[in-house]
Amino acid sequence: MASILIVDDEPRIVLLLQSLLKANGYTVQTARDGAAALDIIRAGGIDITVTDLRMTPMDGMALFREVQKISPDMPVILLTAYASVETAIDAMKSGIFDYLTKPFKVADMLACLKRAEEKIAKHASTAVRLGADAPLRYQYENFIASSPLMQQVCETIQKVGPTAATVLINGESGTGKEVIARTLHKASPRADKPWVAVNCAALPENLLESEMFGHVKGAFTGAYADKEGLFETANGGTLFLDEISSMPLLLQGKLLRVLQEREIRRVGGTRDIPVDVRVIAASNADLEQAVVKGTFRSDLYYRFAVITIDIPPLRKRTEDILPLALHFVRTEMPEGERMPAITPEASRVLAAYDWPGNVRELENAMRHALTFLQDGGDITPDLLPPKILAHKPAAVEAAPGEVSLGAGLSSSNTSLKSFLKQKEREYIEHILSTTNGDKEKAAETLKVNLSTLYRKLSDD
Ligand SMILES: Nc1ncnc2c1ncn2[C@@H]1O[C@H](COP(=O)(O)OP(=O)(O)OP(=O)(O)O)[C@@H](O)[C@H]1O
Ligand SMILES: [Mg+2]
Repeated sequence: MASILIVDDEPRIVLLLQSLLKANGYTVQTARDGAAALDIIRAGGIDITVTDLRMTPMDGMALFREVQKISPDMPVILLTAYASVETAIDAMKSGIFDYLTKPFKVADMLACLKRAEEKIAKHASTAVRLGADAPLRYQYENFIASSPLMQQVCETIQKVGPTAATVLINGESGTGKEVIARTLHKASPRADKPWVAVNCAALPENLLESEMFGHVKGAFTGAYADKEGLFETANGGTLFLDEISSMPLLLQGKLLRVLQEREIRRVGGTRDIPVDVRVIAASNADLEQAVVKGTFRSDLYYRFAVITIDIPPLRKRTEDILPLALHFVRTEMPEGERMPAITPEASRVLAAYDWPGNVRELENAMRHALTFLQDGGDITPDLLPPKILAHKPAAVEAAPGEVSLGAGLSSSNTSLKSFLKQKEREYIEHILSTTNGDKEKAAETLKVNLSTLYRKLSDD
């Protein structure tokens, strides 16, 4: 995958593009202005530059001319506002690789990058590309980890995955404890051996015991035949004990024995059966606290606590929100269908919400949006569940009759004129998001001429 440089003086756009491109496997660097961009390009390793047109002191075209001097074959993609399409066409004539008008569709951006990559491939013999195939340091299948916090988690997975060590995974509900446990299993030499999961909170004590260790015929009423337990089923592989804090004390003692002796005894049985099972446990309760309260055995806790993985809640790793959202859209969309974009407004709403249900809540929110999505449409804020919309950030809230005063102002000495201009811009962007970027429809809703709309959009 190529290495991309994003240049824009608007941090919002930079962040959005950065997470989008990273989620699609690109290596990304960013710069706030032309001078910083040129420094990065001179340092080497950049394959494609994506730059805003309107920037000061060096605009996108001036930057392009400088880039050509350093790296004549580098594709440069220009981002322009609506009304500057003419400029963009002129730019194409002067050798710009392509241009996209803002707000652009995710699919268009990705298609444009793909073409740029094809162009580079043709020049591969001359181009020197550094580190282009290491987009994120760690990547696992179906496991999104864009944030630095999750990259740390990946680092731990990489270190402890291949070992047979017992691991405890802590995290709020829906943070991805089971996904991580599975990723550990897949990263181990046991990957093609059984993966068995048991939820300790789902069964009463006696059933859980016979489930885990099996039983012999006649061990209790209803035990009509010998039955293998999950430890035996998981032999050679991994046993995942979910919600370990719910395990009754008596069973905790038996589990500890299995971990120490590496053999189990079926309920009612007399024979010890050797097992080779790696145990991974998960908990969303504070186990240390449970030890203090006496509901969790301290010796078992220490056995598990040697290696713990703490998964931060989603609100503490907002960089993962958009890549996860795109991942869920991708996995939910039927094969061959057009992948809808997530509009910048919807992205802002997603980023502003605090996700008490963590990744699972985000997954459900994307399912909700896709259920209401119209053919060929994009994911706009109104498709998100009402609960999430209720937390809309102030800047997105500017809807008819409810223009939010004061929101998004960087200082309190803004002139009335620039304040109104800013609010006008936000409102226009909001309407454009509801028309999926259709300017004619937006102009109709706003009751202005199309040319007025273009002018207002090009006014910075
Ligand atoms: N990093 C991730 N990448 C991709 N999908 C994820 C990630 N984290 C979580 N998910 C998805 O989110 C959902 C919830 O994850 P999971 O079941 O692992 O959470 P959990 O912490 O075990 O939740 P609970 O405490 O409720 O059991 C799953 O559908 C899972 O596939
Ligand atoms: Mg779980």
